[in-house]
Amino acid sequence: MTTDLTATKSVEAPEVTAPAIRPTLHHVTLKTGQLAEMMAWYELVLGLDRQFVFEHGAWLTNDAANHRVGLLSTDKVIEDPDKLTHAGLHHSAFEYADIDEWLATYERLKAHGILPHMVVDHGMTLSMYYLDPDGNSIELQIDNFGNWRQSGEWMHTAEAFAADPIGPPCDPEALLAARRAGLSHVEIHERAYRGEYAAGAPTDPRLPL
Ligand SMILES: [Fe+2]
Repeated sequence: MTTDLTATKSVEAPEVTAPAIRPTLHHVTLKTGQLAEMMAWYELVLGLDRQFVFEHGAWLTNDAANHRVGLLSTDKVIEDPDKLTHAGLHHSAFEYADIDEWLATYERLKAHGILPHMVVDHGMTLSMYYLDPDGNSIELQIDNFGNWRQSGEWMHTAEAFAADPIGPPCDPEALLAARRAGLSHVEIHERAYRGEYAAGAPTDPRLPL
């Protein structure tokens, strides 16, 4: 996004009854007591480059934005042993362009000993969830429609989604085998959504139930 900050015009008082002007979601900033470990993990998992690093933080990005993940760190930030039951952020999500990028990422991370705590076909997305060194969950997803408008429409019209807004767990190894056997993304999604790849799937929702 580029904006001409030198442009001038007369500005009228805003109408308080006007609908909200909708800004774009830009970044997430996390508190951490282990800045180096967190930077290394986000670099490895998401390919986030270091835009700027200082003693008490870092700004990381993996696209054209000046940062997408911020980290703030002091030695007074401690791990939260009760994170699971405390209100707050459940996860942040990043999207891949296609199923091959997504499965390649699963394999690459597995080679580093990094495995998902949960894999689900949500209907609108296939999603893998990973824990960063502080136990924050990061979702890696692909859109099952390849189109945000269509997947959004499916969410508010599909009976299957109304009946189960989470969806079945999936074994990522089974998804990988299916793709290697020549199944398309759509075929894999249809089978996954019927629960055909649920056996052996990681299913920790990181939520007290
Ligand atoms: Fe999500």
